Amino acid sequence: MSLLPILRFPDPRLKKIAARVGSIDDGIRRLARDMAETMYEAPGIGLAATQVDVHLRLIVVDASETRDQLLTLINPEVVEQDGQQVHEEGCLSVPGVYDKVERAARVVVRYLDLDGGERTVEAEGLLAVCLQHEIDHLQGKVFVEHLSQLKQLRIRNKLAKQARITA
Ligand code: NI
Repeated sequence: MSLLPILRFPDPRLKKIAARVGSIDDGIRRLARDMAETMYEAPGIGLAATQVDVHLRLIVVDASETRDQLLTLINPEVVEQDGQQVHEEGCLSVPGVYDKVERAARVVVRYLDLDGGERTVEAEGLLAVCLQHEIDHLQGKVFVEHLSQLKQLRIRNKLAKQARITA
């Protein structure tokens, strides 16, 4: 297993649209393991393949407090959503930035597991937020793009400044 480098907003590669996973082979299983390790190490509650510069529909999430409820979702699709909730979000690709985003309160997501089995997960609360946030990444969308243009500009400036300091 190995830790994977995470792209940082506003890296243009975060805007790529991920392709569906065709066959679930050893390469995909290795990627899923490495992504999970990278997410736990960060630490974060979700990671999309897009964030590690692999443009395939694969996400890992674990929104549990005990950090032992790993979900690996291949080709995830939101098939049902209702209600609304506002939650403060952060992102491993946008370090140090947290802001409130409105999303569906409840979602049902259909996906394939690592053995190619068809599954669905029904989620509310934090897990629902996390699933929507990660599936957004696969569409090339980072959570800050839900915020106002002014906030986005401030975030870009802040991250550019951080990059200059750490470079
Ligand atoms: Ni994110």
